[in-house]
Order: sequence, then C-alpha cells, then structure tokens
Amino acid sequence: MKTHTLLMPLDMHLHLRDGVMLENIAPLSAYSFSGGLVMPNLVPPVATLEEIKAYKARIMASVPNDYFEPYMTLFYKNYDKKFLASVAEHIVAIKLYPAGITTNSEGGVASFDIEQMRPTLEAMSVLGIPLCVHGETDGFVMDREAEFMSIYELLAQNFPDLKIIMEHITTKEAVAMLDKYENLYATITVHHLLFTLDDVVGGMMMPHNFCKPIAKRPEDLDALLSVALEAHPKVMFGSDSAPHPKEKKECSGCAAGVFSAPIALQVLCEIFEQYDKLENLQAFVSDNAQSIYKLCPEFKEVILEKRPFVVPPHYSNVVPMLANQTISWAIRSVE
Ligand code: DOR
Ligand code: ZN
Repeated sequence: MKTHTLLMPLDMHLHLRDGVMLENIAPLSAYSFSGGLVMPNLVPPVATLEEIKAYKARIMASVPNDYFEPYMTLFYKNYDKKFLASVAEHIVAIKLYPAGITTNSEGGVASFDIEQMRPTLEAMSVLGIPLCVHGETDGFVMDREAEFMSIYELLAQNFPDLKIIMEHITTKEAVAMLDKYENLYATITVHHLLFTLDDVVGGMMMPHNFCKPIAKRPEDLDALLSVALEAHPKVMFGSDSAPHPKEKKECSGCAAGVFSAPIALQVLCEIFEQYDKLENLQAFVSDNAQSIYKLCPEFKEVILEKRPFVVPPHYSNVVPMLANQTISWAIRSVE
C-alpha cells in the first residue's frame, strides 16, 4: 500500500474555540498535528496576558498528554511597547482583524491609520512579534481581499522589519504580493486549494463550504495551487479550520467557517499527489512554518496511507468539509 510520511505537521491558522466545543475538537487537531497557531477571536477576544495564559491552559487540558503545542496569539489592538514586551514570550504572533469583518471581530481595527498604528507595529518589529492579518475590506464580497492589497503594501513599506502574514489568501493578487515585498508571507487553507465560488453557491448552496474570505475564481485557485504545490518558501499551511455547531451552519444566516482540521492532512496528500508534488508537502505543512516562525516542534511522525476513507458525517455536533464523501488517503499511524 502506498504511504506518505509527514514529520511535525503544523497548522498555522486554527480556531479551537472554548468550552465544550474546545474539548470536543482540540483532540482532533492534536491527533494529526504537532502544533497550531491558535486564533484569539473568542468572546471576549484574547487580549491580556492573563487571558493568553488561561486560554492556553484550557487548550492543554483539552488535549491528550501534551501531544500538541498551541502557539498562542493575541487579538490586535494599538498596544504600547511595555505591554507587548510583557506578553512577547507567551505568544507567537498578534492577529489583526478589521472591525466587524468576520466572526467575533467586532473589537478589531476600525481604521488603518498608519500613524495611529505606528507605535504598536514598531514595537512589534523590535520585539520580533509577527503580525497576522485577516486581509479583507468591507467592499463587494468577491473584491474584499484584492482591495486589501493596498493596505498590505502600506504595512509592508512602513514596517520593513515586521513579519506580516497574509492569512488564508484566496486571490491571485495576494499571491503576487509574496514576491513583491520581502516581509510579506501567507497561509493557505486546504479548502481554498479545492474550492471556487462554484463549490459554495454554484449549484445547491453548500453552507459547510462557506467561509470568509469566500472561495474565488478558477484563476485564483490556480494561483494558490502554484505556490502551495511548489511549497514557495513564504507560504505555509493554515487550515483556518473554524467549527460552528451544525445548527449555526444549516440555517438562515449561516455562520462563516469551514471545519477541516481532522481531514486536512489526508486531503492535502490527495491534492499534492494528484499534481505529482507529494515531495513538497513536508515543506508546505511544516518546514516553511518552522523557518518563518522560528519554531522547533517536538518530534511527531504521521504516516498516511492511500486507501479510500469516508469522511464522517459529523464530529460531535460539527459537520466537516467533504462530509460523507470518500477521500483517497487516510492516517495509518501517529507517533
Ligand atoms: O470563515 C471564517 N470563520 N473566517 C474567519 O475569519 C473567522 C472564522 C471563524 O472564527 O468562524
Ligand atoms: Zn481564521
């Protein structure tokens, strides 16, 4: 049977939630990943040292035997340098949301006034704290990410020593930015390597494929595939796995978020194999992130095998991407 081994896979954009949801879903990421960059968009957001420490402790309590490293993030506000220095050793990055742009982002940034943000972003540059950005404007839904490119350029030019990660990119415009500015990096999800808008609303409406940023056009998918399959050194895997209870997805006013964590590696194997690029998957799911974020994850070996696997209809009360569909890779063992 054909197998493929991945060492220390990392999910560099992950929503673990809190409470019962956290307890139900964190073990799924902990099973197949060595670590994950945990998003801070709880209610209220993770914005103090006490909240970072307490949330990390709740995550650790939810996963079996320390098998998973939660890389913590702080919810961006215009913090001062003293505060940033006090939290620096407890976080791996700070996540910036434009106010109101997505789930639980109401306390985000209301205006991208560079001078207002300068003290914080300069302090982050000096302290070596990367800035992760949800890059969407409030424009027309298909244009939101492309419209945000001018803000990425402004940030990249004004703060050349700040590592800026364009989160969950979905457009050819964002792909083009990677080679334009030395300090811009990106994460890419597995669903954005599979779907276009057609898979969300092209036929029947598919709430479990609906997320923000929404999947775009075929040429955008091609651009994302081109950098992911080559494991461009400035891109890394970040699932943006975002669980919502089934009743919040299958309803009027469906919440944004694709739940992919438990099948992400299996589906990535399928995509990379399809394009004959399996040899690049290790860099995409771990090595690039290790060098970009300077991480040293503990040893973990995930062996996948090529055999049909039917994606479960749900994990507790959350419906995963590709539910009930047969994918061609499964996890054989984790050590
Ligand atoms: O689809 C999304 N869901 N996009 C985000 O930016 C947030 C996430 C969530 O927290 O549900
Ligand atoms: Zn996210």
